Parts: sequence; C-alpha cells; structure tokens
Amino acid sequence: MSEPPATPRTEPFKAPVGTRDVLPPESARWQALIAAFATHVERAGYGLVQSPMFEEIGVFTRMGEGTDVVRKEMYDFLDKGDRHLALRPEGTASVARAFVQHRPPTPWKVWYAAPSFRYERPQAGRYRQHHQLGVEAVGSADPDLDVEVIALLWDFYAAIGLRRVELVLNSMGTAADRRRYIDDIRSYLVGKLGELDPTDAEKVEAHPMRVLDSKRPVTIAAIADAPRITDRLSDEGVAHFERVQAGLRAVGIPFRLEPRLVRGLDYYTHTTFEMVSGALDAAQSTIGGGGRYDGLVESLGGPPTPGIGFGSGIERVLLTCDAEGVFPAPPPRTEVYVVDTAGGDSARDLTQQLRRAGIAAERAFDGRSMKSQMKSADRSGAGLVLIVGPDELAAGTVTVRAMRGERQQHHVERAAVVAVVAELLDASPDHVAAPL
Ligand code: HAM
Repeated sequence: MSEPPATPRTEPFKAPVGTRDVLPPESARWQALIAAFATHVERAGYGLVQSPMFEEIGVFTRMGEGTDVVRKEMYDFLDKGDRHLALRPEGTASVARAFVQHRPPTPWKVWYAAPSFRYERPQAGRYRQHHQLGVEAVGSADPDLDVEVIALLWDFYAAIGLRRVELVLNSMGTAADRRRYIDDIRSYLVGKLGELDPTDAEKVEAHPMRVLDSKRPVTIAAIADAPRITDRLSDEGVAHFERVQAGLRAVGIPFRLEPRLVRGLDYYTHTTFEMVSGALDAAQSTIGGGGRYDGLVESLGGPPTPGIGFGSGIERVLLTCDAEGVFPAPPPRTEVYVVDTAGGDSARDLTQQLRRAGIAAERAFDGRSMKSQMKSADRSGAGLVLIVGPDELAAGTVTVRAMRGERQQHHVERAAVVAVVAELLDASPDHVAAPL
C-alpha cells in the first residue's frame, strides 16, 4: 500500500475509465432485463451459476494465447500469496472450470448474469467492465442443442421487443477441420502479405484467422477470395452444420451464413454465431455471440466434453432497446405516499405499518412543507397519498387521496386506514382512478 497523499485531493473521484455507475431508474431496467432473462432460460431448464469474479490466469489463457482478450485485455495480478490471478474477461471459461471441478450430471445447463473485465479502448457500447447475460450447456454434442441455445437468445430478444436483429451463422468444423483450415488460410495469406494492412500482416504467422474478421478496408479487399472454412469441412463437420441449419429453419429462425465469422476466442468448434442489431452503429452492433467449444473442458483438465453457449452484453442490449424504443424502465414501484405535516409520528408509523402489510410505501423526511411533500408524492408515482395534517391528527383520521383519475379523496379512521388502502389497491392494482 502506498502512503496516503499529504494534502487532500481537490479533484473529486470518478469511476475508472471504461466503467460506469448504473443508478435508478436505469438500474430498475437492468433488474427487469435480468429477471426477464432468468424466467426465459429457466423455462428451458437452465439453472443459475455463480462463479468467482477472478480465477487462476491459466483458466483464461486456454481461450487462446493469440486472442486479444488474453494477450492485451486481461486484468491480471499477483495476489498477496503470489498467485497469478485474473478478473474474468468472459463467462464460458469459468463455467467450464466449474464443470471440471464439480462434475455435475450432463447435460449441465446453466445461465449467468455477470460482470466481465477487458482492458479495451472504451467507446459507446464498449467498456472495461461490461455485463453479460449468458447460458452454457455442457456435455452434449447433439446439434439440436445448438438449435436450442440459438433459439433461446433469438426468442429472448423478440420477447423484450427487439425486431431488428440478424442471426449470423458459421461453422468451424471439428477440431481437426479447424487446425487444417488455419494452415490453409496461413498459406493463402502469406501469398498476400504485401496487400494486407500492416497491422493485419503481423498476425498472419501466429494468428491467421484473426485476419479474416479484419475491419480494415485494404485487408477486406485483399482477401475477397480467401478459402472458406465451410467449403473445407469434414463429413462430420458438414453433417453437424446441416442439422443445425435444418433445425433453425424448422423452428422459424432466419439466418445469414457468414464464412468469415471466426469470433475472437480460440475455443470454438462447429457452430459459431452472432446476433447483430441493425439499430446500432457497426462498431458495437454485435449484441450477442456464442458457439460450440468441444475441446475447452478437456483443455482445463476434464474428460472430453462438448459444450455450447452464448453471451450477450447487457449494456449493448439496452442501447439497442433505446434505439428501437422498446423495453422502457419499469415505472416506480411506490404505491402509497404518506404526507405528514403534523410532526412526523404518523409518517413514521404509517409507512412502517403499510410496508409490513406488503404495500410499497414512501415518505418525506426533515419536516418538509405540504407543497414539497406533495411534489415528492407526485414524483414517486404513487397512486394513493395518505395525508395527516393537524386536523386529521386531532380527529384521529387520515385523508386518502387518489392521485389519478378524478383525484377523489376521503377521510378514513386512522385505525382502519391500512386495511382500506390494501382493499383499494386490490380492487385497482394500477390505482388508475382508484375507486374511493
Ligand atoms: P464475446 O463475443 O466476446 O463472447 O462477448 C459476448 C458479448 O458480450 C458481445 O456480443 C457483446 O454484446 C458483449 N461484450 C463483449 N465485450 C464487451 C465490451 N468490452 N463492452 C460491452 N459489451 C461487450 C464471449 O464472451 C463468449 N464467452 C460467449 C460464449 C458463451 N461463447 C460460448 N458460450
């Protein structure tokens, strides 16, 4: 630990570059999105998995020593016991490690909503801490499981109201297909070295596949006739991919085949896919991605075990929702607001009684004026306001006012008010023109 500075800093602290605070009411939208996802995937038999936010670095290096995620973006550190650890850059490797450790019965179907950390250049939709909704299904090589996983993500986007999403699909074939293709593509690219953008040319020897998904126009033009992996799959690779495509057609999910979709992580075999939003700028338009990783569990010390899953960035999904004008923040949950201008005892006691009766109740503090308390009541979205002024206090009553419709108001015995409010809310849960 370094010494604290001698003079107090004058600049206020800010969240680190590439991170952001999620505050109400935006946080309510996050919660609603995660809840919608949980309901959706649990209906298909996926259970929540919570794994640590950091792991031994070796868990993540299996994703590919050549990937940007491992080479440049990892938040790794030595802890006080000299262990080399890293903050999780994504969810799949941790789930595979947990599978190897606990060996649950297969297929093991799990979901997560978890922060991930990548030291990237921050921009709109790209953060150093982002959050992924994801599923992993471990222990089955059945191509119908690929269809299930892709359909889960597709239907989730539809369920939250997104309409402008495109499924882009590819296959990397078996592990042997993939290895063979890497050799092919390297030979091809070596012949094109002079034509590639220099940054891409540097990748040819060690990571030729990375060149395929280059966004640099010079490179894109130079490799227009590059060999396609889907033209070189083994019979096994073809059979798997054809069954996946037939399955997607059968369940009514349109897709575009993109032989250059290699994805940024090295563990993929067979099916790879991305969901791209037509409502976002190209730089952050991939709102979800995934695929098979049939060798990952074994590379982490487990038995040969296939797996498939996806991850979808919460931030990008919500940006897409903004762009499409869907999935707004849920309205505030306050049902009843207690306004007390007679000393505060009633506000203290009534809110407590209401909350114990399961009613969402709010109040003001600091002896605010009637006008200021009514303003807060308005802002809270409550459908009912309970008012206790000196007159009500003296009479042992509470004024119950509906905040919507004709704003009717009644005087209710103090002792009966909680029961009356409960009845009103039951009769008109949205308290639109709550009948009084
Ligand atoms: P990924 O494509 O690296 O895949 O990330 C999945 C999703 O996370 C992306 O489509 C994007 O929406 C979001 N995302 C990634 N990086 C950032 C970032 N820096 N800022 C904001 N959002 C980001 C994976 O992570 C794989 N684990 C997916 C998977 C699961 N494959 C199989 N199972």
